[in-house]
Amino acid sequence: MSSPGEIHPRITGWGKSLPSKVLTNFDLESMLDTTDEWIRTRTGIKERRIAGEGETTASLAARASLEAMKVAGLNAEELDLILLATSTGDALIPAGSASLQKALGAKRAGACDVNAACCGFMYGLSIAYQFVSAGTFKNVLVVGSEIYSRILDWKDRSTCVLFGDGAGAIIVQGSNKPLLKPYFVLGTEGEHAGLINAPNSANPAVKSSASPYLTMDGPKIFKLAVTWMVKSTEKAIEGAGLKNEQISLFIPHQANIRIIESAMNTLKMPKERIFINVDKYGNTASASIPIALCEAIEENRVKPGEYIALTAFGAGISWASAVIQWDPKI
Ligand code: UT7
Repeated sequence: MSSPGEIHPRITGWGKSLPSKVLTNFDLESMLDTTDEWIRTRTGIKERRIAGEGETTASLAARASLEAMKVAGLNAEELDLILLATSTGDALIPAGSASLQKALGAKRAGACDVNAACCGFMYGLSIAYQFVSAGTFKNVLVVGSEIYSRILDWKDRSTCVLFGDGAGAIIVQGSNKPLLKPYFVLGTEGEHAGLINAPNSANPAVKSSASPYLTMDGPKIFKLAVTWMVKSTEKAIEGAGLKNEQISLFIPHQANIRIIESAMNTLKMPKERIFINVDKYGNTASASIPIALCEAIEENRVKPGEYIALTAFGAGISWASAVIQWDPKI
């Protein structure tokens, strides 16, 4: 039930930005001991995008943000807050969100980065919803932007075939128009922090024997991912007061088609209600869900009034799920 004056946050703008360079599985066959068949059958990935020399996480983020602001009809000076979800920022200091704020000319906006690896966008979204529903801010930009190609060991076939670069952005605004109260489930199990690692190599506390690149225990992550995607999605649906069959579209983190299918089979979700684009972009970490949401809207997969479930997992390990009602007009 909605009380008079209550502010209902909603996504009112969306945009994406993908580097033009495409790296296919066949390209990888000529670089590594791998095959298109192995990558496709084990992951569902056919190709991924790779950032060009002049591209940065902030510049990809800026392109996606400008699209999202255009859809929402906002100019840069109207933005109150910028949350840039990234785990591959251009520098440790300053936060990439500062470069993004400058690139957009969003002079009034506060800006910070959110790092929860592949869950960063979902954490950012939850923060944006809190600020807007509290009435603290009116216009919040949340962006997921990643360039994993720069932290991968291109000789390690067990990791480098999995990831891709890109950015997705959304605008959160509120209005008194009634809408389902969004429900977020956020969780972390820090005892598994070592399962995915990308060290800060400038830090002397990092052992010299550690790889300077991203390393990962894929099979262990696989099992935890399925478990937590299922549990957190169930909890988010229940928290929103809905049943599985009322969810029109599931947008899972696009890491591996087998992880998605396994989780969705347990949740008894029919294929036609699951959005998949991992084949085109691989795992774009925190950019994965906003890019997928953007494409789902472009493909008319979601209509006003319908309920959407979003679910992510990643290094930490962390997980994040949400159920929202789609109604982008304030
Ligand atoms: O956003 C979160 C980030 N992380 C993830 O999402 C990762 C989750 N995990 C996964 O997606 C899967 O575990 C992988 C795709 C990483 C691996 O799939 P798997 O079915 O768990 O395979 P595996 O690790 O058990 O490896 C099977 C075999 C191994 O060979 P042996 O030891 O059986 O002879 C690997 O050496 O496949 C080999 N292999 C490859 N072969 C060809 C590993 N990578 C490749 C490759 N090409 N690229």
